[in-house]
Amino acid sequence: MKALMGVVGVVMVGVVVGLENGLARTPPMGWLAWERFRCNTDCDNDPDNCISESLFKAMADLMVSEGYRDLGYDIVCLDDCWLDTERDADDKLQPDPKRFPSGIKALADYMHERGLRFGIYEDFGTHTCAGYPGIEGHLETDANTFAEWGVDYVKLDGCYTDPKDMDIGYPEFGAFLNNTGRPMVYSCSWPDYQLASGMVPNWTAIIETCNLWRNFDDIDDSWDSVSSIINYYGDNQDDIVPNAGPGHWNDPDMLIIGNFGLSYEQSKAQMAMWAIMASPLLMSVDLRTMHSEFKAILQNQALIDVNQDELGIQGTRVQKSNSIEIWIRPITPVQQDNYSYAMAVLSQRTDGTPISVAVNPASLGLNFPSGYEVVDLYSNTEYGTVLPDHQVNFSVNPTGVVITKWTIVTT
Ligand code: GLA
Repeated sequence: MKALMGVVGVVMVGVVVGLENGLARTPPMGWLAWERFRCNTDCDNDPDNCISESLFKAMADLMVSEGYRDLGYDIVCLDDCWLDTERDADDKLQPDPKRFPSGIKALADYMHERGLRFGIYEDFGTHTCAGYPGIEGHLETDANTFAEWGVDYVKLDGCYTDPKDMDIGYPEFGAFLNNTGRPMVYSCSWPDYQLASGMVPNWTAIIETCNLWRNFDDIDDSWDSVSSIINYYGDNQDDIVPNAGPGHWNDPDMLIIGNFGLSYEQSKAQMAMWAIMASPLLMSVDLRTMHSEFKAILQNQALIDVNQDELGIQGTRVQKSNSIEIWIRPITPVQQDNYSYAMAVLSQRTDGTPISVAVNPASLGLNFPSGYEVVDLYSNTEYGTVLPDHQVNFSVNPTGVVITKWTIVTT
């Protein structure tokens, strides 16, 4: 029940149709506070890094001045710990007054004045995961408050509630968001909590309700964490991948590129895999201290183009052997059902030397008779025209990736 379908959707209850709010036709891109800044509320001792309006303004300024916004990273999103510990006298949500003295509407205005969109975090349960007031019992009021404040994107978490209630609650809150008339991207944690409690999610309902949703664990600042997410998506791709498409995306969690835990190779691998998986690109990083080589990864136009490909088909793992994996994603241009592809050759090996990987296009289903123009999206190395029965060798570094684009050769 995505925004703007409003009354029509209520009338059509029981009819299975793909409801669209017109939002998130390609995976959302932006900046999200949680992984990097967590629940740091200590503005007395750590004023530059605590969760406060000045942190979000500082990030917004850099999103613009450092060119992220113009590449499509246009959402700046709060996460947990922005709230006061109590609702106000009218039972409305309110931010912590010391850390957000200008209020949330002013912060949303700040984003809008800079051509950015503003995202907010809440939780379907009684409390957010960090213990601040949740929306339970206040769904309509809170949806209206978000609209009044000028919110463009809502991340709704699922702590402090029974996952069984989510099948009703997430669509209900979505309907209240719709009824405001303000388009808001709706990011859900619904399947994540249900899967963790052993339930089988109702994917049809989730696709119809949410623009994106988490399936798996929170990302942390390590390759182990990134690798576990990639493995989860590969191992469960038959259940997960078909659910993705324009307007509704799987969310494997934030990009952690530019932080402390990933090497240069691992950072390239995360960006490549998030492009292949049609994942939201939500950076969680201190843009003030970004090193140029990590910025270049996040700003790689060719990878962003793969991520944002208009077909919106999520890629899959098509080969896995000795910790070397091949993932492919169908992309444009297309000719008579023949796709072009993005291909990631990923090494999860840690024995410290590059490995040569032979790729045979036909064996992966790349059978276009006149072949493919192949180019490396990081090094720009051109491999010329590769016919289906040709073999290409890629040298892949430990915990690294080679990502190439295979464009059909039309005559
Ligand atoms: C959950 C979510 C995270 C983050 C925290 C905040 O763990 O999955 O992304 O929002 O809550 O407390």
